[in-house]
Amino acid sequence: MKIAVVGTGYVGLVTGTCLAETGNNVICVDINEAKVKKMQDGQVPIYEPGLDLLFHRNIEQGRLHFTINLADAIEEAQIIFMALPTPPGGDGAADLSYILGAAKDISKIIKGYKIIVNKSTVPVGTADKVRAVFKENTDIEVDVVSNPEFLREGVAVEDFMKPDRVVLGTTSERAKKLMTELYGPYVRQGNPILFMDERSSELTKYAANSFLATKITFMNEVANLCELVGADVDAVRRGIGSDERIGKRFLFPGIGYGGSCFPKDVQALVMAADENTYDFQILKSVMEVNERQKTILVDKVLKYYKNDIAGKHFALWGLAFKPETDDIREAPALYIIDALVKHGATVSVFDPEGMANVKNIIGDKVVFADNQYDALKDADALLIATEWSVFRNPDFEKIESILKNKVIFDGRNLYDLQKMIDLGYYYNSIGRKL
Ligand code: UGA
Repeated sequence: MKIAVVGTGYVGLVTGTCLAETGNNVICVDINEAKVKKMQDGQVPIYEPGLDLLFHRNIEQGRLHFTINLADAIEEAQIIFMALPTPPGGDGAADLSYILGAAKDISKIIKGYKIIVNKSTVPVGTADKVRAVFKENTDIEVDVVSNPEFLREGVAVEDFMKPDRVVLGTTSERAKKLMTELYGPYVRQGNPILFMDERSSELTKYAANSFLATKITFMNEVANLCELVGADVDAVRRGIGSDERIGKRFLFPGIGYGGSCFPKDVQALVMAADENTYDFQILKSVMEVNERQKTILVDKVLKYYKNDIAGKHFALWGLAFKPETDDIREAPALYIIDALVKHGATVSVFDPEGMANVKNIIGDKVVFADNQYDALKDADALLIATEWSVFRNPDFEKIESILKNKVIFDGRNLYDLQKMIDLGYYYNSIGRKL
């Protein structure tokens, strides 16, 4: 099939590359000339495990192309995916100007039937708005399909190639047929393609992310309570997770959820509910609790140093909002840096992939170390904000020889409690005994 993907951000690039991988001819279009040039020269603009291989293979095989020219991109495409940003607008609601703008541009140049697929996370009713834009500008028939993306950063390629489900919001039989053909190769193991109306599909995406954010937040609160009553959240997590109705996944407490999706989507759903005069109370609490959870590691540090950390130096391992990504949007580490510096402390940081992005935002506010051990030099304590695999089994003897004191504040529960006691560390983690 011939596919166009409008927007080569995270979702667009993974979608385009993975659609090419099953033999489709894909052309990705973006307004950012420098980025398109880079991709044409064979450079992947984001860090995402496994993407590199597929990206190069499909370019070499002539199935994946990049352009800044929208008309060229969509001329032959049967299906046009829109993977454009929907940032929170001034009022917190998703800003649809990129999507509606692209719809308008496309509507003015199409010459025949197309399927327009909304891949971006968009508020309920967006498919109707996109359809209205086409109606206003052209007589040519189009089908507008809502097709939310559920991929996770860090495992995006795997999630796209083997999705738990594909959700397609459309009532058009013609669109259903083509979309079923397109997604067939990805659900060969029997995972469902779920057809529904556009509004249900649009809401499914927000409901899924909000549910997951709620699950994490619930566990964060359980963890906080564990500390107060002397219980161990690891044991409680296992205890509840083996009930299939609860499930083992997504129960790991930490220093609050971050990233470009959960915070934005929870807020958008709360706003959508408010607009429809529904008070979505549980999600309002989720937002509040998550903000509080982001401060928890610094609160522990302040308590340990009796509120005086001026002149202290800290090592911080992990900047990305989660492992296997260079994405630092809404990363708890940013809050931690800000708070430590505000209290007069200095910070050395290390992250396997996220350093360049942090440097761009905060410049020389912190020291960027060459490796995780260099970050420990002259540090009074080590803080951990992201559970990168390289932090899971460090050389504790080396840590001891560099760090000034054997003090670790771990926001991701990476180490075994007994081991840390045996090694003689002061080890403060989340929801576990001191
Ligand atoms: C999330 C969803 O999981 C995807 O299904 C969805 O497609 C994506 O948003 C999106 O809307 O684009 P992502 O933001 O990449 O994916 O990351 P997750 O792995 O879901 O993690 C989100 C946050 O929750 C991270 O800050 C992570 O540290 C935190 N988390 C996750 C926990 O604190 N505990 C857990 O047990 C799991």
